[in-house]
Amino acid sequence: MKMRQCATTWESEIPEVEMKSLLAALRQRELKGKHLEIGTAAGGTLCRLIRFYEEEFGQSPPFLVVDPLKYFPHQFETVCQNLEKHDIDPREIEFLKSSSKDAFSSLANHPPELDFILVDGNHKIRYVTEDLRWVRFLRPGGLLCLHDYTPRFPGVYLSGKRLLRKHPNYEVVSQVESLLILRKSRESSRPEISAIDRLWAACLGPWFQLKASLAKRLRKSKGQDSVKSGL
Ligand SMILES: C[S@@+](CC[C@H](N)C(=O)[O-])C[C@H]1O[C@@H](n2cnc3c(N)ncnc32)[C@H](O)[C@@H]1O
Repeated sequence: MKMRQCATTWESEIPEVEMKSLLAALRQRELKGKHLEIGTAAGGTLCRLIRFYEEEFGQSPPFLVVDPLKYFPHQFETVCQNLEKHDIDPREIEFLKSSSKDAFSSLANHPPELDFILVDGNHKIRYVTEDLRWVRFLRPGGLLCLHDYTPRFPGVYLSGKRLLRKHPNYEVVSQVESLLILRKSRESSRPEISAIDRLWAACLGPWFQLKASLAKRLRKSKGQDSVKSGL
């Protein structure tokens, strides 16, 4: 398994300038309902958010984390140690050790009411589309954040754009670098992610994969050419 930088630094993978925009949006609203993080890595953002709430408002809302926890060896233990380092009891966090797709299905009969969702799991289009199904559970007034919302990550970018185009009840609060923050202004009249959206993602996925692997091969062969020519 590949060792990730965050496995040793325990830091948030969200750059500081983006984090500041997120904290500013949260400061303005004081959301009290359940917060969901899809994809936690070493729990760096989770710790930042909980500490922010405790310092700013005296207490944190409940947090739910959905992640298969296979990003690096001993990921769950690392997240717990990181929480403890920040004086947060890991038992206060609800962890669903699962993909967001499976976790979503498992909660279908007793859906949570959410005030905040951070989508930061697998960035491939079919996974992001699954992650966006959770917005069904977001209460009006709640925030949806998409990290790595940039053309460099077409899976995140196109899924976010599609949601915005099809559902005018999601309005842009801010976009700082690759962190897009949306507010759900009112209840949606239909599920935000339909079977057609999922089919769209399933069809586009292999195309992106092919493009990425061709680009990688091209970079590799260019690199080999410059080594041969002594550049
Ligand atoms: C980019 S990192 C998350 C960074 C973290 N939010 C932060 O700010 O530090 C991606 C995380 O998504 C998780 N992940 C991968 N596939 C997933 C899926 N299908 N559902 C939920 N989480 C997933 C990985 O295990 C990893 O922990």
